[in-house]
Amino acid sequence: MKKAYVKSYGCQMNAYDAGRMADVLAAEGYSATDTVEEADVVVLNTCHIREKAAEKVYSELGRLRVLKGERAESGQDTRIVVAGCVAQAEGREILSRAPAVDVVVGPQSYHRLPDLLRQSRETRVVDTEFPAEDKFDHLPARRNRGVTGFLTVQEGCDKFCAFCVVPYTRGAEVSRSVAAVVDEARRLVEGGVREITLIGQNVNAYHGDGPDGAPATLGHLMDALSAVPGLLRLRYTTSHPNDFADDLIAAHATNPLVMPYLHLPVQSGSDRILQAMNRRHTGDAYRRLIERIRNARPDIALSSDFIVGFPGETDADFAETMRLVSDIGFSAAFSFKYSPRAGTPAAEREDAVPEAVKTERLAALQDLLDRQRHAYNAASVGTLTEILVEKTGRHPGQVAGKTPHLQAVQFDAPASTIGTVVPVRITRAGSNSLFGEALEGAAAAA
Ligand code: 5AD
Ligand code: SF4
Repeated sequence: MKKAYVKSYGCQMNAYDAGRMADVLAAEGYSATDTVEEADVVVLNTCHIREKAAEKVYSELGRLRVLKGERAESGQDTRIVVAGCVAQAEGREILSRAPAVDVVVGPQSYHRLPDLLRQSRETRVVDTEFPAEDKFDHLPARRNRGVTGFLTVQEGCDKFCAFCVVPYTRGAEVSRSVAAVVDEARRLVEGGVREITLIGQNVNAYHGDGPDGAPATLGHLMDALSAVPGLLRLRYTTSHPNDFADDLIAAHATNPLVMPYLHLPVQSGSDRILQAMNRRHTGDAYRRLIERIRNARPDIALSSDFIVGFPGETDADFAETMRLVSDIGFSAAFSFKYSPRAGTPAAEREDAVPEAVKTERLAALQDLLDRQRHAYNAASVGTLTEILVEKTGRHPGQVAGKTPHLQAVQFDAPASTIGTVVPVRITRAGSNSLFGEALEGAAAAA
């Protein structure tokens, strides 16, 4: 049997795509392998969002060229595929820089992978079209992997933040229909998935066709998904503050499957920088939105993305970001140094912030965010919470799962609890995960 090795970089949507590419290859008779040396097909599903992503891909391709040569000496063929956002952005350029590559395929065309692999026996191929057909209609059924699963409901972005490549690599906003999403969710749950994270670059701009043909909101979609028997939890990511409709806020109060956790990138706390970023909202608009969400769901855990050192960012601008973080209080966050992406408006600017200043600001911001995360986790000690058990833990007899607020927790319970929700008292906060004890009898009963 032929073997396929699929490696994914970057965001959750890429992780989802990598899984679907593995499904496409499985339908063609390839089994999945984690050992690149034994792979007949190697797929690198690349990310282009921040610095050095493309460079990493090229150095990986250098190593793969050697491997391909060694396998060829023992009479084995290796097809090398570059997929994802670097493929989309660089296209044919990849063929000239990386001689080992056979196929370059963009995020909207990977359902054609079997065809492209066949064509690659004649000539090296590039497919970075945004085809009129919907790739989801051409993908084989999903195979189950684990207790939690991602499900793409929306792709692309029409926001054009000045720093971001996504509108160029992933194209315009497109939503899948409610029926298609519910159907995929049912299959996932039949395969053992209990928690689904709905993903999209701009997931709360979701506007797929509803059952009556009219566009449905993300709130409607989650209501429809709540009827899937056996589904226990729903999450969604990533959202934009400007598309946060009232019914989505309401869903956090009324839909018991929607978990009290929200990843809502703000990028900066300075109105001047937010405007230069083309975010089209102010720091105070973000604060007011969070207040409304907290009114609907007081215990919601908040997470965000931040960029430091956007061109023209002054000390005063950065201080505004720190002030916003202090005002809101996040349970988790991702923060990055700004890196220019070719083709985006911000890359044209000449008032770049010096690298040393970016480094200093990032350290200060991450220190504050780390302190908030630790305080958040420390405050959980002593509370009673519900853990969806995902897998066995680090030590024998332990299992690992997540709280509704997306904190990782380890506790003693039999592996038979995997896939169930267990009431657990949190006893201790470690640096990366919490520890707890299952309530008397709760774990045994599972
Ligand atoms: N430089 C640094 N960070 C970026 N992000 C997106 N583009 C850039 C860039 N050019 C960050 C944003 C976004 C997250 C996915 O990546 O914070 O929310
Ligand atoms: Fe990277 Fe963005 Fe593409 Fe995801 S969508 S792979 S984060 S560039």
